[in-house]
Amino acid sequence: MSAAPQYETNYDDKFDARDYLNEYFQVVDQTNANLLKFIVEVLQKEDISGAKVINFGCGPCIDTVISVAPKCTEIHMSDYLDANLQEVREWIAQAPDAFNWEHFLRSGLQLEAEFAQADTTVTDAQIAERSAIIRQKITQLMTGDAKQAQPLGAEGHQQYDALVMFFCLEAAAADFAEWQQMVQNVMSLLKPNGLIIWAMTALQTEGYQVGDETFQVIPLKENDIRDALAPCVASESLQIDYFDVVEHELVQGAFLVTARTRA
Ligand SMILES: C[S@@+](CC[C@H](N)C(=O)[O-])C[C@H]1O[C@@H](n2cnc3c(N)ncnc32)[C@H](O)[C@@H]1O
Repeated sequence: MSAAPQYETNYDDKFDARDYLNEYFQVVDQTNANLLKFIVEVLQKEDISGAKVINFGCGPCIDTVISVAPKCTEIHMSDYLDANLQEVREWIAQAPDAFNWEHFLRSGLQLEAEFAQADTTVTDAQIAERSAIIRQKITQLMTGDAKQAQPLGAEGHQQYDALVMFFCLEAAAADFAEWQQMVQNVMSLLKPNGLIIWAMTALQTEGYQVGDETFQVIPLKENDIRDALAPCVASESLQIDYFDVVEHELVQGAFLVTARTRA
């Protein structure tokens, strides 16, 4: 009998921000398109005007805030690794080596136009305008750790109107019990009636590739999400969708979750 594969859990030494960007964000594939569409769709229904938003476990990425930025007041970006935040800082600073998010910006703007039944031709000027809005709305970048009861630290602790969290806790947790605890920790960042926009790998996904490393993922079922959120969300607000992921061998699918914390 062969032993179950032991995948990497050491983010401090083994996670390379550029390898991650190159692995998952070179092209807007079907998975990325589904994720961008999820955000656009949620924001058709949910009002985030005046909202202060936390993008927790943001990684080195800005794709998750492309459609959020023009609708909210302020965005705080948090990740466990400062090296990931550094990629975001470089994009904000328009550093020469910053990762190029133009293709994601174009797709996000196209999706928004489709939903608005407007012309889906996206110009370079529109991309520049949206980039400027994102740069202006990101007002803080801070390290955070979902293992802590106060994931932004006691000093950084504050509550938000909305949480955006993509592919973080299932990758960060050592085991299922820790994942459950991390959900409670991160949900404490939301105000009552706060909006959750949450995507995670699903079902038999147990790892994901970053360069030469394969990082561990906790496999999750729909009921795991329902149970973990039960103490903190209004049950009628909870919606969970699923799609198959075809591009990444180790990833079976993704859950897309929206909910509101109890009033
Ligand atoms: C799969 S990446 C997701 C990045 C990004 N949100 C995305 O959608 O591509 C997992 C992220 O979780 C972060 N992470 C790992 N351990 C963490 C912890 N204890 N607390 C918060 N984030 C953590 C990693 O640094 C990494 O950026």
